[in-house]
Amino acid sequence: MKMLYDTILAKSFSRYERKKFGFWSLVGCLIIALSFFTVFKPSFGRLPTLKLQSAMSTGALTLLRIEDTSISKRLESKTKEETKSMCNILDPRSAFCEVEGDIRIHGNSSTIFVASSQMGTLAENKSWSIRPYARKEDETAMGLVTELSVKSVVGHEEAPHCTLYHNIPAILFSLGGYAGNHFHDFSDILVPLFLTSRQFNGEVQFLLSDSRSWWLTKFEKVLERLSKYETISIDRDSEIHCFPSVIVGLKYHKELSIDPSKSPNGYTMKDFRVFLRSSYSLKRATAIRIRDLAHDKPRLLIISRRKTRSFTNEAEIAQMARNLGYQVVVAEANTATDLLKFAQIVNSCDVMMGIHGAGLTNIVFLPTNAILIQIVPLGGLEWLASHDFGNPALDMNIRYLEYKIKEEESSLIQQYPLDHAVFKDPLSFQKQGWETVRSIFMEKQNVKLDVSRFRATLSEALELLHQ
Ligand SMILES: *[C@@H]1O[C@H](CO)[C@@H](O)[C@H](O)[C@H]1NC(C)=O
Ligand SMILES: *[C@@H]1O[C@H](CO)[C@@H](O)[C@H](O)[C@H]1NC(C)=O
Repeated sequence: MKMLYDTILAKSFSRYERKKFGFWSLVGCLIIALSFFTVFKPSFGRLPTLKLQSAMSTGALTLLRIEDTSISKRLESKTKEETKSMCNILDPRSAFCEVEGDIRIHGNSSTIFVASSQMGTLAENKSWSIRPYARKEDETAMGLVTELSVKSVVGHEEAPHCTLYHNIPAILFSLGGYAGNHFHDFSDILVPLFLTSRQFNGEVQFLLSDSRSWWLTKFEKVLERLSKYETISIDRDSEIHCFPSVIVGLKYHKELSIDPSKSPNGYTMKDFRVFLRSSYSLKRATAIRIRDLAHDKPRLLIISRRKTRSFTNEAEIAQMARNLGYQVVVAEANTATDLLKFAQIVNSCDVMMGIHGAGLTNIVFLPTNAILIQIVPLGGLEWLASHDFGNPALDMNIRYLEYKIKEEESSLIQQYPLDHAVFKDPLSFQKQGWETVRSIFMEKQNVKLDVSRFRATLSEALELLHQ
């Protein structure tokens, strides 16, 4: 289930992201990844087995999968003793090194040298392999992340000479993996980056591997607020950057959320959202509290999807909502080339509803006490729905309602008889693997909401806004 879930969002790339991170850029990444492994073959010992599968697609997106079967084996082969010293490579989700001292980083060879004297506790030549992306157990994602090596070398003269000195700490992370999918941008990168870097108050240098300029542009406003220094892409960088300390990899707690008991300064998701609001200059801190519906019109945002998992009766839903007293806004998250504009739309609303998908990640911009209504399509996707959005919403002080559709609300009734396993035993498809689930339930299912049944959920949301 876990693996299934990891791939579900990864592959539900939105249209906007498809354009940005389309087929050719995937091929490009792949070629870079392949040539990387070829060029550096001697220094990596056993090479990962690269299996290329041209995976199927209905739309513009053809995904190439890289399976790196050697990642987990390689990690297992490390000893406990190594782990204690400077790299936590046993964390189940995010491998992570935090090192102070004489740090020298050579991007072009993907190496972080830690020079120490003969007397030091690290008076031994050691090396750790790290892929600095927080989805370690997902081989598809990690296959798209460049492997770095952290080497402790005895004797300062053994490490390459510094060509650039920096007097602030560095944080090195990858923009590979599933970067470009809105959910993963936040869950795998931005929330972990906040957790790892906020404590430095901007006095920190971000170093990027697998860097992509469109990603940096998209999240410019967030990055600017976390670091006062322009990011450095180290992929083909021949400089030797020297730092007093470095963190390689990002801290990770849970999906699209933070565990305050583990975070520096007790940071919470609330802090993350306050930070986002300030980064995007969003006006509303809290949702409306209705006293009189004639004057206080709550705003409902319907997240529209065009290609897959679409509402087929959007106008009817919007009309019913207006009759209840809502002001209705319909917007498609996927076409939001301008994140600032979309963040403003979301922040202006009190209730956000949408079918399960990466677009719901935009709850991060909702005001406190707003309400998320997640529409769960058929396919045994309940676990996924609460894991990805239901639980994170609660950590964000967003109230959460779920609406599970019935057979007759799914377009699948036009394709399968009612006694088919698609309706009777949807979980059985998960055993057949992700591709099956994806093609049946995620790619070919649209939703025609039964507005008289759904009315009760929208009324409940109205009721909550009175409290
Ligand atoms: C570490 O490696 C260097 C050469 O790379 C070698 O000169 C040195 O003796 C080694 N030190 C230890 C403690 O193995
Ligand atoms: C990076 O490394 C490759 C392979 O070692 C080398 O051919 C290339 O010239 C290097 N590039 C730079 C900018 O140093």
